[in-house]
Amino acid sequence: MSLWKSVLITGCSRGIGLQLVKELANSNGRPATIIATARNPAASTALQDLSKTYAGLHIITLDVSSEKSISSASEEVLSIVGSAGLNCLINNAAIGFPTNISNVTPEAMMANFQVNTVAPLFVTKAFMPLLQTAATRSSGMGLHRAAVINMSSVLGSITLNFGDGANFRSYAYRTSKAALNMVTRCLAADLESSGILCMSLHPGWVRTDMGGPYADLTVEESVSGILSVLFSLNEQNHGGFLDYRGENLQCLLFTNLGWPHVHVRACGQLTLR
Ligand SMILES: NC(=O)c1ccc[n+]([C@@H]2O[C@H](COP(=O)([O-])OP(=O)(O)OC[C@H]3O[C@@H](n4cnc5c(N)ncnc54)[C@H](OP(=O)(O)O)[C@@H]3O)[C@@H](O)[C@H]2O)c1
Repeated sequence: MSLWKSVLITGCSRGIGLQLVKELANSNGRPATIIATARNPAASTALQDLSKTYAGLHIITLDVSSEKSISSASEEVLSIVGSAGLNCLINNAAIGFPTNISNVTPEAMMANFQVNTVAPLFVTKAFMPLLQTAATRSSGMGLHRAAVINMSSVLGSITLNFGDGANFRSYAYRTSKAALNMVTRCLAADLESSGILCMSLHPGWVRTDMGGPYADLTVEESVSGILSVLFSLNEQNHGGFLDYRGENLQCLLFTNLGWPHVHVRACGQLTLR
């Protein structure tokens, strides 16, 4: 018996999104319904090939930066999952390119903010009714109920952006992921009463088009870690920031511990007053 019935992943044409679909389709804990979305599914032969092999794998078009596309995708997903709702949304699609002090432009900042920060929020809003439907059918927190996973990056950590951690120069990407982490925290506050778990996840530095050929991890290593983390999520991870090994990165989100209303007691323990 699978822990979860359905998952939707954005940005599955290549990279981590595509590998997530591959591994999930083959896993013991595979959900009956895997919805792989891509802005141009026809251009991804790897994704098309997978759909021929696995029953229960649905491929739908979703450009996360287009309101119209989000709206028609959510209607299509409703017709797939019906009254069971959606157990898990993985906001994986993103763009990223180095933008240093010399070449950063307002356009690059806005493009990254649109795809990496604004889109995950509005995709989540569109699928909220389906996540809420799934959440009413169970208790506790985790994939068995309903979850929103925002694929973030350790490069979104403000605390780590110094010394060696500052070597990767990208105003556009880094600020968009820092802001995505705040979207996660805001969603966690709003969706907690519905029992929908929300968290940010860092996949490691991975050899994809985005991560480049010198990255630490193969896409298989990253995704195998990501899935172990996903399968073990519970209420303690709500609003959190984990990496692909399950290491808690939440302490890396905040720098100004002197804010009067924020107290960080230890890594992973945050209280807002
Ligand atoms: N690779 C790393 O080292 C690394 C490290 C930290 C975090 N991450 C995060 O992990 C996630 C996946 O990264 P990756 O390495 O797999 O990147 P990737 O290989 O560059 O793939 C990016 C995916 O996002 C899709 N995408 C981009 N814009 C989109 C849009 N407007 N609508 C729908 N899909 C769109 C791309 O689709 P197209 O094929 O249509 O362009 C592609 O499927 C991202 O959130 C990234 O920020 C990656």
